[in-house]
Amino acid sequence: MEKNNVFAIIGSPRENGNTAFLTNKLLDLLKDNFKIEKIFLKDYTINSCKECYYCMDNDACSIKDDMQILYDKLREAQVIILSSPIFMGGVTSLMRAFMERTWHLRKGQLKDKIGSYIIVGRRDIGSGLNEMEGYLSRLKMNKLAGVLGFGFHENDVSKDEEALKNVQRLSKQIISLSQTQKMNNQDWIIL
Ligand SMILES: Cc1cc2nc3c(=O)[nH]c(=O)nc-3n(C[C@H](O)[C@H](O)[C@H](O)COP(=O)(O)O)c2cc1C
Repeated sequence: MEKNNVFAIIGSPRENGNTAFLTNKLLDLLKDNFKIEKIFLKDYTINSCKECYYCMDNDACSIKDDMQILYDKLREAQVIILSSPIFMGGVTSLMRAFMERTWHLRKGQLKDKIGSYIIVGRRDIGSGLNEMEGYLSRLKMNKLAGVLGFGFHENDVSKDEEALKNVQRLSKQIISLSQTQKMNNQDWIIL
């Protein structure tokens, strides 16, 4: 049977940083059940929303940059993971730009997807958790509580045992919820 997709979006500028570390751990636990796709937003050209309101009348964004590639990937995924370090008390500007550019998807286009998040800060996560929770609610996804890690230098978060436990918990919840979704989508033959 064809596997469903997990699409992980990383908003850290560091490919070997703490956010990528936890995300890789999660994806490793999911790889037997899902087709995995992981991207770093830093590798994509994502302009900020220009408030043209084209998307009010069109189910699309008028800005023709790399977000167009990401919209397709979002639509194809069954599971969407947003991963970001905390910069200045919130998600990074890379993640923020991405979020703003998905405004036109807030009317339920992603409502059947499972959504969760990973955030990593050094000490003070500020509004980062609320930003992630609020985003997934706004996009009406089936939201699972995310993972919060603490670390500063690369690999610090590998010593955060609570975060590692939460990665395991999240992987189990994702697998279980996706299996329930699959059952619900089956055409039952009632004898
Ligand atoms: C510009 C900048 C701002 C930061 N602001 C915060 C902050 O407000 N709170 C916090 O806990 N950590 C802050 N940090 C620390 C990072 O969140 C931390 O180093 C994190 O592990 C980086 O994740 P990464 O390794 O995945 O890039 C900041 C780091 C940078 C570079």
